[in-house]
Amino acid sequence: MSRVLVIGCGGVASTAIQKCCQADDIFTDLCIASRTRAKCDALAARLRGRTSANITTAQVDADNVGQLIELIRSFSPDLVMNIALPYQDLTIMDACLACGVNYMDTANYEPEDTDDPAWRAVYEKRCKEAGFSAYFDYSWQWAYRERFEKAGLTALLGCGFDPGVTQAYCAYALKHEFDQIDTIDILDCNGGDHGYPFATNFNPEVNLREVSAPGSYWENGHWIEIPAMSIKREYDFDQVGRKDMYLLHHEEIESLAQNIPGVKRIRFFMTFGQSYLTHMKCLENVGMLSTTPVSFEGHEIVPIKFLKALLPDPASLGPRTHGKTNIGCIFTGQKNGQPKTYYIYNVCDHQECYREVQSQAVSYTTGVPAMCGAMMLLTGRWNIPGVHTVEELDPDPFLEALDRYGLPRSESRSPALVD
Ligand SMILES: NC(=O)c1ccc[n+]([C@@H]2O[C@H](COP(=O)([O-])OP(=O)(O)OC[C@H]3O[C@@H](n4cnc5c(N)ncnc54)[C@H](OP(=O)(O)O)[C@@H]3O)[C@@H](O)[C@H]2O)c1
Repeated sequence: MSRVLVIGCGGVASTAIQKCCQADDIFTDLCIASRTRAKCDALAARLRGRTSANITTAQVDADNVGQLIELIRSFSPDLVMNIALPYQDLTIMDACLACGVNYMDTANYEPEDTDDPAWRAVYEKRCKEAGFSAYFDYSWQWAYRERFEKAGLTALLGCGFDPGVTQAYCAYALKHEFDQIDTIDILDCNGGDHGYPFATNFNPEVNLREVSAPGSYWENGHWIEIPAMSIKREYDFDQVGRKDMYLLHHEEIESLAQNIPGVKRIRFFMTFGQSYLTHMKCLENVGMLSTTPVSFEGHEIVPIKFLKALLPDPASLGPRTHGKTNIGCIFTGQKNGQPKTYYIYNVCDHQECYREVQSQAVSYTTGVPAMCGAMMLLTGRWNIPGVHTVEELDPDPFLEALDRYGLPRSESRSPALVD
């Protein structure tokens, strides 16, 4: 019997909420709260009668700590699932601390306004000291560790697929397959086709910021940064086929570098089609990816927000997207003194996801782990006071839950390696 407050009602949240309703013996009371209450009401109406979970809705501005505290106090949840945007991570963590409630999210903090001078001063110092220049990093949320520990509360960070399941795969490999992991390659392949020349499959603003940033990887104890999309490889993905993939900076590299003892190299690759890359470069070159407001006919507009208004809503891609995703990790290392390689991954079919939850596989592969992570916290299996990323926690019950709720693992002990 648990009460869960879900903040956000976009593509990922709506999958997570529907999956929570499939486990309504655990998720007995759900409150869906977001900026636009009508979306929460529409989802709640769709679910009532199909689940025994008691569902209520609310309107909240998650940038406003006072409003969040009021909502949390009125609903008294056991857990707050933040599935809004990374911009709201800190305000929701503040409200959880004020109300004594566990917290989880699917992406680490980044500010909405990257021109804010106070944030920029910290950011520029971090770029110099750490050696990577992505707008997002864990330092902001790791700064809450002591407060969550003292309050006896757990904050679970980045519990989607990547970050999230990819780190559980690392913890699983370390626990069962290796004495020493030397290298990790995280491969995120989306072989889906939605038929548009250009669309993003999750929040466009967050997605475009991520993929237009310089790439980076961890090697021999430090970051190596490279120009965006300048390292390209081809890989033959199970059930998808050959795809071009590009090295990106990705948030889980930062925590894995700290938590996988002795790891020598961690890289992250994502597949992109040529049409996506050409459109993105063009939009970047003309300034449409900028987060700095410009004055247009007497109005202030933020170019990337305007672009978001023009692009297809990721939630609308579900019925049009065909094909599969394949996301996983390839490891090299040693077991019992012998060299070893191991690949663990999940393949997910866009149309099957659509039939089940009316969303494409990118929302599905994020929403299901969010629900399974919530289940780990509600059943006491991952409750360690403090602020934690997924690789710090026992992977076994989590991977079992993923197998059961729609994201089963596949394995290979002789995978092709990425050079
Ligand atoms: N770990 C992973 O594998 C992974 C993969 C993909 C995405 N993600 C993360 O998942 C999260 C959700 O992505 P998505 O694609 O579902 O995004 P989305 O479709 O844009 O949904 C975001 C939701 O948050 C709500 N929201 C935004 N600002 C808010 C505020 N100030 N107060 C209250 N609600 C607010 C939005 O409300 P409106 O409806 O009013 O706009 C919307 O319902 C993001 O953090 C994204 O980075 C993680």
